[in-house]
Amino acid sequence: MADRVYVTRLIPEAGLELVRQCCDTRVWEGEVPPPREVMMREVAEVDGLLALLTDRIDAEVMDAGKRLRVISNYAVGYDNIDVPAATQRGIVVGNTPGVLTETTADLAFSLLMAAARRIAEGDRYTRAGKWQTWGPKLFLGYDLHHATLGLVGMGRIGSEMAKRANGFDMRVLYYDPVRRQDLEGSLGVIYVSFDTLLRESDFISLHTPLTEQTRHLIGAPELAKMKLTAILVNSSRGPVVDQQALYEALRDGVIAGAGLDVFEVEPIPQDDPLLTLDNVTVVPHVGSASHATRDKMARMAAENLIAGLQGKLPPNCVNPEAWQQK
Ligand code: DGY
Repeated sequence: MADRVYVTRLIPEAGLELVRQCCDTRVWEGEVPPPREVMMREVAEVDGLLALLTDRIDAEVMDAGKRLRVISNYAVGYDNIDVPAATQRGIVVGNTPGVLTETTADLAFSLLMAAARRIAEGDRYTRAGKWQTWGPKLFLGYDLHHATLGLVGMGRIGSEMAKRANGFDMRVLYYDPVRRQDLEGSLGVIYVSFDTLLRESDFISLHTPLTEQTRHLIGAPELAKMKLTAILVNSSRGPVVDQQALYEALRDGVIAGAGLDVFEVEPIPQDDPLLTLDNVTVVPHVGSASHATRDKMARMAAENLIAGLQGKLPPNCVNPEAWQQK
């Protein structure tokens, strides 16, 4: 009998087709995530779950899934899954690293440029018919070229950011708990303390996973150390930044601007005060959203799921110890 799986959203056909070929597949076709009670009901029937970062997969969900052996996340980040709880239950968890690295770096760099040169604000102004004439002081922004970029996190996406920054003749500082001397040679990045990075950078871009150590890594004290002209970009996870503190810093001119792809609550509520500010550029968590990359993520998530169901170690497994227990 074919394994039964539940896919919590309509992922690209490139991956869905692979899953359908070998599993008895049910798919939640709604635009928004399945409600909790639907998830609990569906998971009770399945051997494998292909989940999204919008699904909270905790111990309660896992316990509802009496036969559940594999959770494949359609994302590189997996803070939506209680991985220790999965490991305890012998459930393997897969993710989609690598394939979205450059696409996400492209987006982060776009946000950097958009915030620095006030692209979204200029677009709103032009469409609103406010543009009267060329002006010597109209929409002045900040230069990226020859400025200092501070990268918090020098993993895959951080390294790609450094490559892009090199093309703009930027000086690139980085902070990471793991020093990357290899990249210091090849990319010319400079390792500094977190404090130095905050104080010396013109632009700061966050590329760290969300963990208990990185939650609110950027709060009021950190914002206060940044330059008045600093621009902060977050394309990692919303809770890495204390959003209320960021709002106050942007409102009060403690820093100059921000470009945000991620938020503490997603979607960001329409009445969030952050949305009243002109010096913040926002996009709806689209770091990996290119046609090609989302197809690759779908295939990778399907391959992880299928391998796990076949009793193999998924090619990208975040808790191989769960598989070794078998
Ligand atoms: C991820 O994969 O973690 C991104 O946030 C979405 O692609």
